Amino acid sequence: MSWKAIGIFDSGVGGLTVLKEVIKALPQEDTVYLGDTARVPYGTKSPETVTRYSMEITSFLVSREIKLLVVACNTASAVSLEALKQRFSIPIVGVIEPGARRAASVTRTGKVGVIGTEGTIRSSAYAKAIKRINPEIEVITRACPLLVPLAEEGWVDNEVARLTTETYLRGLKNAGIDTLVLGCTHYPLLKQTIAATVGDRVQLVDSAEETARTVAETLRSSGLTRPASEKGNHHYFVTDVPAGFLKVGNRFLGGALEDVHQVSLEKEEKC
Ligand code: DGL
Repeated sequence: MSWKAIGIFDSGVGGLTVLKEVIKALPQEDTVYLGDTARVPYGTKSPETVTRYSMEITSFLVSREIKLLVVACNTASAVSLEALKQRFSIPIVGVIEPGARRAASVTRTGKVGVIGTEGTIRSSAYAKAIKRINPEIEVITRACPLLVPLAEEGWVDNEVARLTTETYLRGLKNAGIDTLVLGCTHYPLLKQTIAATVGDRVQLVDSAEETARTVAETLRSSGLTRPASEKGNHHYFVTDVPAGFLKVGNRFLGGALEDVHQVSLEKEEKC
């Protein structure tokens, strides 16, 4: 029997933090990852543009016969998930719902902070998802755009990273949050610096871990999980030349990236 792969996409390298958790949870599954490195960042772009890009990428991955799609990019999940679900018939898992579910279940004081890109925060997708679960929870949000380039540069625990996170997170800390959602693919790389800034009374929620659990559960409930005795293969596509993706991606994935190919999406979808 031939088993289809899990498709996963992000605006660039950041989604590799989600892929890493998916591989950890489901080592038997094949994966196909697409990083839209020619058009990153998504966090500063309009919902219409991000949705058009997401449609093109999903068409490309669906043409490779994937069995499930993970929208690893928080910004794309925030603004495009519903449109993707309407257009494509395979199961589609975003990162917002899983992160929101986890945050709602761990908060004790009912004060949850959410950080993300401008696009994610402007969409209020996390706040809406958390409030759907529990309307009593107060959600305090903050866009932290500078954390993306810091993570890509590998400046995750130096003086610049500390000052930047302190400046961004001061308001959330003063508001008395006890839970903080890392609502961007890049932020898990800054986890230690963020934890040191907000203190050990604030629980950090990494959407990547919770998303991997949702992927495993979705496959299991639809009978699509590959037998545990198998070993997955991993393929990577990027929309710009692979050099930058390889350099930064190895740090994100914590391993040696292989089989990275450049692809053009222009012919995939015309909206
Ligand atoms: N992947 C994006 C996200 O999680 C961050 C990088 C970008 O702005 O494209 O929102």
